[in-house]
Amino acid sequence: MNHAALRQSWHPVCYSADLAAQPRAVTLLGERLVIWRDAAGAARAFVDRCIHRGTALSLGRVEDGALVCPYHGWHFDAEGRCTLIPQLEDPRRVPARAALSAFACIERLGLVWVALEAPRRAVPDVPEWSDPAWRVVRTGPFTWNAFAQRMLENFTDFGHFAFVHEGLLGDPARPVVAQYDVKIDGDVVRYAYGRPDAPNTDALPVFTHGERKDEMRRTRYAIHLPFTLIEYIDWGGADGMVYVFAVQPVDDTHAIGYCQVARNYQHDQPETVMQEFERVIFGQDQTIVESQTPVVVDLGNDGEVHMVFDKVAQAYRRALRENGFG
Ligand code: FES
Ligand SMILES: [Fe+2]
Repeated sequence: MNHAALRQSWHPVCYSADLAAQPRAVTLLGERLVIWRDAAGAARAFVDRCIHRGTALSLGRVEDGALVCPYHGWHFDAEGRCTLIPQLEDPRRVPARAALSAFACIERLGLVWVALEAPRRAVPDVPEWSDPAWRVVRTGPFTWNAFAQRMLENFTDFGHFAFVHEGLLGDPARPVVAQYDVKIDGDVVRYAYGRPDAPNTDALPVFTHGERKDEMRRTRYAIHLPFTLIEYIDWGGADGMVYVFAVQPVDDTHAIGYCQVARNYQHDQPETVMQEFERVIFGQDQTIVESQTPVVVDLGNDGEVHMVFDKVAQAYRRALRENGFG
């Protein structure tokens, strides 16, 4: 994949709730970053390498709104400028060259996002995330030995439900994938699908209340390039679910999936039910996806056999190419 295009995109690097007072080390597209909260609580992202002697700043701490290096205690402000060198007679006489590279960093949809270069598109808006009628459950994060594209594609793959997720998302007696339409809308791939609800185990009743078992589950999907997918589910009535699944491309062989689920019903259910459900599903998928080769698909010549029910993957790969990721 084209790294320049990936560098010009927002990517999630952790759940917002997991970034507290302590700086955190994350890796994005092979770059080691430190993320931390400034005096106003805003998330900041710098290269995780002190300009003085190359120490990992993520081992340091935040003090008075500054990121403090663990080795010699230099302070860096929210923009990455060094503001204090304790070893100097006058610690405030800091040379201008003592500055860190800072990256664009924002918080949306319960996640911290970083772009290594000026991003060419926005993080999608999902109104349910700020609507109190919807309750969001964070699951994972799930760290796989895979490239982000394979992880995202697996989430879109209808053909595997009957084989990999028997009793949870699929029914081995019904492997046929119904017809559906896909359309590419600039840098968004949209498709929709309706299928009878698979028997949802009583152990993990995340979709149904019990009486809904044979109803038609209707799903609408939007893949926002490169690695964010939003899924809307309903059963024809008022009850609904929204998934936000966003993948962090750690490097070519590692990815972290952040899967959040919002529901406007079943608010009394403990979060652990949904978290356990996704832990099982993602665990089943992990073995498969980690076995796929090549790890990074050649978008110009993938050499794979595509069938009619693989239309989403085909459209997704075409959209990636058309938007400069190939
Ligand atoms: S290495 Fe960071 S202050 Fe010296
Ligand atoms: Fe799966």
